[in-house]
Amino acid sequence: MKRIGVLTSGGDSPGMNAAVRAVVRKALYHNVEVYGIFRGYAGLLNGEFERFQLGSVADIIHRGGTILHSSRSEEFKTVEGQKKAVAQLREKGIDGVVVIGGDGSYRGAQKLNEHGIATIGVPGTIDNDIAGTDFTIGFDTALNTIIDAVDKIRDTASSHERTFIVEVMGRDAGDLALWSGLGVGAETIIVPESNYQMDEIVKRLQHGAERGKKHSIIVFAEGVGDVMAFADELKKETHTQNRVTVLGHLQRGGSPTGFDRVLASRLGAFAIELLIAGKQGRAVGIQKNELVELDYDEVFNAPHHLNKTMIELAIELSI
Ligand code: ADP
Ligand code: F6P
Repeated sequence: MKRIGVLTSGGDSPGMNAAVRAVVRKALYHNVEVYGIFRGYAGLLNGEFERFQLGSVADIIHRGGTILHSSRSEEFKTVEGQKKAVAQLREKGIDGVVVIGGDGSYRGAQKLNEHGIATIGVPGTIDNDIAGTDFTIGFDTALNTIIDAVDKIRDTASSHERTFIVEVMGRDAGDLALWSGLGVGAETIIVPESNYQMDEIVKRLQHGAERGKKHSIIVFAEGVGDVMAFADELKKETHTQNRVTVLGHLQRGGSPTGFDRVLASRLGAFAIELLIAGKQGRAVGIQKNELVELDYDEVFNAPHHLNKTMIELAIELSI
């Protein structure tokens, strides 16, 4: 492996820059040339490459977003698009690519592999929805951003004695909702992995009110559905006002936490170790604080589970 590329793809996440830095520095440490590929697969198709040196990734470990920019490309999903991308890589003499992104990006990486380009996937998404790794890069930062926001919402909820419903991201996964809900002491956490019972929620709110609770926080994962419809239904059932806050894209920004910086540095460097060792078509991850590697298909076929014990704990602690 003499020359490799690195790109970030799909929804950006805090810590992607730290991962890019680790990829670049580790490759250069081993005398492997590195090209930054801009705008994910869209930029790969257009040959948006830049030769990176040590200084190209200076002063980025603490920055949110991704200096490489990110995108979603429909063209790359086509065989013609993939062939165009491979031709761009061949022209530059690049024979390996580190893809930092979510499972959609991994599917693209798998296609590149099938066309003869060695790829390694690094899990970068706030959603924590990639099987085979305990954590994805950006999850911890987004979690802390949500906790900070909900703590503030709790102040006003308490002053006005209101119920707040806070919608958090996570796509189809409830990890951000479950972890943040536990972290803020939410009265109710609603996740896509289990059907909610409105009568149960109402009962819990009433039970809380009876013992003097004046406000409540409900954390609602976006993957569950229409938060406004949920809020209306709740209003009808409880005959009380509520307020909805959709946290939105602020959850994707900000300086990465220490945890995400370290995770990104370890995973990015590990991806280069694998490429240098001649491995390809692998996704890296962390399990019980050990670095692991899996085939893409193992990642795609393993179901992503929410931690059941944590769901039970959240219910027990919010009585
Ligand atoms: P994420 O990586 O965060 O899950 P997406 O699902 O949007 O984000 O995927 C990012 C990009 O990966 C897509 O825009 C597309 O270019 C590429 N991609 C996704 N699925 C496939 C696929 N089945 N084949 C080829 N490329 C894909
Ligand atoms: O995958 C990251 C994520 O932020 C999800 O949590 C969310 O559903 C989605 O991306 C939003 O995508 P977009 O930035 O295209 O609105």
